[in-house]
Amino acid sequence: MSDYPRDLASLRSREYPWEANGDAIHFDHAAVGPLPQCSRDALDAYGLKRAEPHRLGMDDFSPVLDCARSLVGRLIGASAGEIVLTTNTSWGVNLAAYALPLGPGDIVLGSQGEFPANVYPWMSAAKARGFTFELLPLLGDSPDVAAVLARIASDSRVKAVALSWVSFWSGARIDLGVIGAACRARGIWFAVDAIQGLGPLVLDVRTMPVDILSSGAQKWLCSPWGSGFAYMREALVKTLEPPAAGWLAQASSGDFGRFLDYDPTWHSDARKFEVGTIPYQDIVGMNASLSLFLELGPARIEAHVRELTRALLDWAQRAPGVRLLTPVADARRAGIVAFATLDVEGDSAKLRAAKVTHSVREGAIRLAPHFHNTLEEVAVVIGAIGR
Ligand SMILES: Cc1ncc(COP(=O)(O)O)c(C=O)c1O
Repeated sequence: MSDYPRDLASLRSREYPWEANGDAIHFDHAAVGPLPQCSRDALDAYGLKRAEPHRLGMDDFSPVLDCARSLVGRLIGASAGEIVLTTNTSWGVNLAAYALPLGPGDIVLGSQGEFPANVYPWMSAAKARGFTFELLPLLGDSPDVAAVLARIASDSRVKAVALSWVSFWSGARIDLGVIGAACRARGIWFAVDAIQGLGPLVLDVRTMPVDILSSGAQKWLCSPWGSGFAYMREALVKTLEPPAAGWLAQASSGDFGRFLDYDPTWHSDARKFEVGTIPYQDIVGMNASLSLFLELGPARIEAHVRELTRALLDWAQRAPGVRLLTPVADARRAGIVAFATLDVEGDSAKLRAAKVTHSVREGAIRLAPHFHNTLEEVAVVIGAIGR
């Protein structure tokens, strides 16, 4: 059991030596999460074997994927059989848009302000399958949850809701429990893009009424590009027909000696939604990163991120000329703190000069610290903007 966050300094020098040396301050997890040393080591070791394939053993193939499904399952309270390994968030969003039984006369509710990864798949599926995809207007800088709930309650054509847990630009978090419960009560589906929430926030799908949830692991889970997953509730895994077929989705795929005995029988678990070869090396890196998260403890990570973001929010609320986009209440946000200043470009340049990695999104500075960052770094960031 680790002593995190008490031993943050040793965690930093072990997993992020460049950061412990002061090379940069990474407050940009909403864009890309830095790989911890354990993940880099795992990638290097696997990369050597990949370059010289005679070194690859049977443990380097499907056991890597089994391990990933079980680690993701532990992280979100799902069983391994409910986890589909994917290469990004978009894959799981497409899975929801094309696999849920939706058709003409049905409405899927989304929101303005969504990242396009959670918009285009729904638009495209709506066109192909004849349902309507409707984007509700924002309320300020957040999805209008009251309007979503009202439509769920009053409009029997609404068959699914598709929203991001946390907004990529404002950092606003929606209450998955409230929307999910309303969907369950009506017997409709709730699909969630979780990439901006998972990592800084704890999620337990055993108590959270979500049907399909998708996340790349490249941001807040500090894993390689090309690693990601979708969770699908067991009852749906059993009943939904995969929208894309592939050899590894079939139960017969385990027998490499009999490829030619075609037997189109899906796997009985979520592997039926995996199509073909998965990028093993990226999954190896993700496994190392997820193991680190589980060792540190998702609840302790959430508490630490809350402390860092709280300090940023306290400053942003007081600083002259700063307009906060992120809601201040703990339950309404995650790891992102976004704010506009009178000179966003100039202030972004000041942050870059202080070696603070960050993003500018939709006209606002977006800061996104995580489990390995410190309050001292928050002070440097605030000092760099200098208000
Ligand atoms: C809410 C949200 N969804 C999805 C993505 C990325 O999608 P993908 O993992 O498919 O590249 C981002 C990236 O910024 C995002 O903010």
